[in-house]
Amino acid sequence: MNNNIFLIGFMGSGKSTVGHILSEKLGYSFVDTDNIVEKDWEMSISSMFEEHGENYFREREYKALKKIIENKNQVVSTGGGIVTFEKSRELLEGQEVYYIDVDSETVYKRLKSDNTRPLLKNCSFEKMSDLLSFRKKIYENTCTSKIDGKKDPQKVAEDIIFNMS
Ligand code: S3P
Repeated sequence: MNNNIFLIGFMGSGKSTVGHILSEKLGYSFVDTDNIVEKDWEMSISSMFEEHGENYFREREYKALKKIIENKNQVVSTGGGIVTFEKSRELLEGQEVYYIDVDSETVYKRLKSDNTRPLLKNCSFEKMSDLLSFRKKIYENTCTSKIDGKKDPQKVAEDIIFNMS
């Protein structure tokens, strides 16, 4: 195995915060697919969605994931929608993938004043909940373990370590 740990889950589930803590605990490097996309294409995700649309972003997100997978000893925080793109999902097959599970109330509370995520711009609680319910099955089918993301990030990182093979 390449000793990479992938974190998947909805926006606001705490993937980046938990990922940073986890990478320090394990002595791994921390990588975020969103950061790679923005760096490699010199464009913010919001502008990418606005100028080129979601599918263009998903292709670039897939390319970022493909590049990341070539390296080892990393904790990888992925964008919340990465699992909706078949090619990206296929790349995650056979990897160690943790789904950080949170409910829609928690997400809404955490992100209600955030305007950096194009899919949540002017998004009602109902619409956001529908998107989360739709994705939940995909997260569950893609992960190797599901972790409760409502706990304190430090505890979530510890739970992941406890579950590690
Ligand atoms: C997205 C989640 C975002 C980012 C983009 C799309 C999604 O990442 O990739 O705005 O479709 O859920 P985070 O999950 O890190 O917020």
